[in-house]
Amino acid sequence: MRMVEIYSCCNIARHGDKVYIVRRFVAYAFGDNNGVALRCVVCGAEYGPDFRLFRCPRCGGLLDVVVRGKYWAPKGSGIWRYATMLPMKTGVTMGEGRTPLVESRLKGNLWVKFEGANPTGSFKDRGMALGVTVAREAGAGKVVVASTGNTAASAAAYAARAGLKAYVVLPRGHVARGKLVQAALHGAEILAVEGYFDRALSLVVDYGTKYAYPLNSFNPWRLEGQKTLAYEVYEELGCPDNIVVPVGNAGNIYAIWKGFRELGELGLCAKLPRMVGVQAAGAAPLARAWREGLQNPLFLDSPNTVASAIRIGKPVNWVKAFIAVRESGGMFVEVDDTEILRAQLALARADGIGAEPAGAASIAGALALDLPGVTVAVVTGHALKDPDVVEVKTVPVASQEELISALSR
Ligand code: F0G
Repeated sequence: MRMVEIYSCCNIARHGDKVYIVRRFVAYAFGDNNGVALRCVVCGAEYGPDFRLFRCPRCGGLLDVVVRGKYWAPKGSGIWRYATMLPMKTGVTMGEGRTPLVESRLKGNLWVKFEGANPTGSFKDRGMALGVTVAREAGAGKVVVASTGNTAASAAAYAARAGLKAYVVLPRGHVARGKLVQAALHGAEILAVEGYFDRALSLVVDYGTKYAYPLNSFNPWRLEGQKTLAYEVYEELGCPDNIVVPVGNAGNIYAIWKGFRELGELGLCAKLPRMVGVQAAGAAPLARAWREGLQNPLFLDSPNTVASAIRIGKPVNWVKAFIAVRESGGMFVEVDDTEILRAQLALARADGIGAEPAGAASIAGALALDLPGVTVAVVTGHALKDPDVVEVKTVPVASQEELISALSR
């Protein structure tokens, strides 16, 4: 029998030298999805559904949201189409999700789930719809994220829609232009810090959470929104054999796996897909640990890749990502920058899909591997996010004759 501890009566919890404030459980808007709880993915301890508890007070492990009363009854649009599978019934939305699932011309049995078609151009919108709803329910007036760019863009937009203020903590000089423009446009306060994303994230964990509600992927509620990608793939294609996902901070691969696992629990998927996590070679602590059979990854101090969205040396969700890959019989692989940029071009020219480099990492992985059966590669972000990586050639035309000569070549 598993031991269950409910900490909803406490208001302070300690783990090591860190003190966590655990708010008394309040009856938030869980609708008739009765039985929402948090469970530690490491020790299995259970807690009430506290919106401000992000680590297990007992062992420090990552937490997962458990929805006990769930059932399959998709209706409507946005992530709330799957309200009966989610911990909350309704919330903030901009019609996120319902992204195109396109059969690729690059390889047989390859499908592309184009998350660049979300409202702010990345998969983060699925998570932010739920995350910002939770922030509002928790009574927060402000949200905060560390980001390589897309989380910032999405948090800024969804916070604006919910009437909340957003702070985005970014690694100075390492964020693609399109994402910065979005954060600025939606009115976020942009705080640029020295160092890499990993430092920005640890600053948010140590200081940001005291002042604003954190919406990075260590927040398990946000990942509940991201699991809806699995439901959409299921509705259109059934249960594929492989799902290939770019991995940075490593939350999304777990969220998608969780979505499929739940479809399995409800008897909708007889066979669950293998989860394949793709990292960029210069930022691949999980792929290396996997290859070398290490129990714990060796983190990197100076990650480097053209795919700035996944330039991460210390993925906060690595334990969850390992669970996803192990449980599903999948793997982690790495692809180098040349393969990523080649895949970006190939996808753009064969399938008409514009991906930012991190988004194309899954395509690079799917093209490099010989995966049996039907594969869905998740293209996580839009090409316009990072315009500077694309070489633009123009032909100067000074006269009608030159135009005609160019057109007839
Ligand atoms: N692809 C894109 C386009 C991303 O922006 C990210 C993460 C990932 C893949 C990796 O997802 O972290 O769940 O493994 N971007 C975060 C950000 C880190 O700040 O926007 P993950």
